[in-house]
Amino acid sequence: MDIDKIRSDFPILSTTVYGNTLVYLDNGATTQKPKCVVEEIEKIYYTTNANVHRGVHYLSQKATDLAEESRVVVQQYINAEHSREVIFTKGTTESINLMAHSFCRQFCKEGDEIIISAMEHHANIVSWQLQETIKGIKLKVIPINEKGELMLDEMKKLISSKTRLISITHVSNVLGTVNPIEEIIEIAHNHDIPVLIDAAQSVQHMVIDVQKLDCDFLVFSGHKVYGPNGVGVLYGKEKWLNQMPPYQGGGEMIGHVSFKGTTFNELPFKFEAGTPNYPDVIALAKALNYIKNIGLDSIKSYEDELLQYCSDELSKIEGIRIFGTSEKKCSVISFLVGNIHHYDMGMLLDKMGIAVRTGHHCAQPLMEELGIEGTVRVSIAFYNTKKEVDRLITGIKRVVAMFG
Ligand code: ALA
Repeated sequence: MDIDKIRSDFPILSTTVYGNTLVYLDNGATTQKPKCVVEEIEKIYYTTNANVHRGVHYLSQKATDLAEESRVVVQQYINAEHSREVIFTKGTTESINLMAHSFCRQFCKEGDEIIISAMEHHANIVSWQLQETIKGIKLKVIPINEKGELMLDEMKKLISSKTRLISITHVSNVLGTVNPIEEIIEIAHNHDIPVLIDAAQSVQHMVIDVQKLDCDFLVFSGHKVYGPNGVGVLYGKEKWLNQMPPYQGGGEMIGHVSFKGTTFNELPFKFEAGTPNYPDVIALAKALNYIKNIGLDSIKSYEDELLQYCSDELSKIEGIRIFGTSEKKCSVISFLVGNIHHYDMGMLLDKMGIAVRTGHHCAQPLMEELGIEGTVRVSIAFYNTKKEVDRLITGIKRVVAMFG
């Protein structure tokens, strides 16, 4: 990979922060955007702006064509069988909320169970908790071991005749653990239980093939995959989505509206009420094509090498505790050093131009499990370099020295 060329595609990486060149290591929270994505958004608004699926006029047709082409780009990126299995949403959170609402309404009754894990993001916890109140379902939680890995034997014990869905993250946004989703899907399917994969932290780092995985649903966000904010994806197998009721009512999701009764549109439009965020949908395709041009296999091996280097260098720091020590990790390292508060570490690194995330990372139950309030989190992207990791390590050592 030509890192200098890649970095030149991301103008923000040359920004200075407090007089230092930015070192951006908060890619798990959001990724930076290549010029082609930002330019595409500008181009849409300057040349092609019109509402999609609503006009016979030229611009509306053109915008519609581009938005639907983007659906095909997403379909190919995750290797879905049909483009109609790709639903555009606001992001991972909305995708999971859509799922929780619509899936539970169709398939769950009081006392039915959904299995999640101890390392889920709040989006994959609270969306289901809302359904505990609305539908009377119960959440069951797969525990993790001391390395931050899912305990699959415990998961097997949680499965019962009342289990309706397993909803699990592919990569933990805190621990970086890559979960064995192939095995989980196989176990679940042996019990005729569908599986939802939260791919928010994986789809930008490794090849995802939903047909090979045989997952039933998969969700991710545009902004974490070098695309625009405010757009995301829910992939679902047609056989499931066809049975599920709409999540929101409004334009485009209807067949015919009458006060005597309303019918609904076909997939994917049944789940896309209202004017969609088509400029960002179109720009998302640019981001996915940008990644494809570099190649996910090259991205993965480069990022893995950088992650290993960063882990090795961090491990040499006295008093460091790394949370998540699975052999199968991706992009993310969470840590604490001695008694230094994560916010202090984050704020002082920021003064050196180094951006990391601090806090509970929207995973408070996991923090409770680890017996801590929060961590410092480094999350790597393909535009990061060993030199940047070195600046991080030097920065941490300076903070440690300040605290004596
Ligand atoms: N879910 C995002 C993160 O992990 C915001 O930082």
